[in-house]
Amino acid sequence: MIKIEAIVREEKLEDVKSALNSIEVNGITVFQVMGCGTQKGYAETVRGSVVDVSLLPKVKFEIVVSSEEWERKVIETIQKAAFTGKIGDGKIFSYDLRGAVRIRTSETGYDALN
Ligand SMILES: Nc1ncnc2c1ncn2[C@@H]1O[C@H](COP(=O)(O)OP(=O)(O)OP(=O)(O)O)[C@@H](O)[C@H]1O
Ligand SMILES: [Mg+2]
Repeated sequence: MIKIEAIVREEKLEDVKSALNSIEVNGITVFQVMGCGTQKGYAETVRGSVVDVSLLPKVKFEIVVSSEEWERKVIETIQKAAFTGKIGDGKIFSYDLRGAVRIRTSETGYDALN
């Protein structure tokens, strides 16, 4: 299992959400977060105006998938939906995940995902 975390622009929430729904992922968790990248948050634009603060509001998606094929698919989908080409578009991280449990059925591992 692989966990993907994507931090994107707030205004891309709907675009990324519907792009992920269209490829039928099994679950999505979304967080409102604050963050900065290499520019430390300075001179980024938020909803059209230049802001000068060190942490900017962003949206974080967490998705757990069962294979590297799905990892590639999800990352490509998020990248395409979240892209503007300007600084602050965000970042996508992925890493191996040890376990999963579906609480209702006690299924574990891959069975808990599908
Ligand atoms: N190394 C990092 N570790 C944790 N979170 C990060 C890291 N880099 C970026 N982020 C998160 O992603 C958000 C968006 O980052 P951002 O797109 O500004 O990255 P960047 O490396 O500065 O790229 P760009 O030059 O395109 O702006 C940040 O606000 C932060 O929440
Ligand atoms: Mg940046």
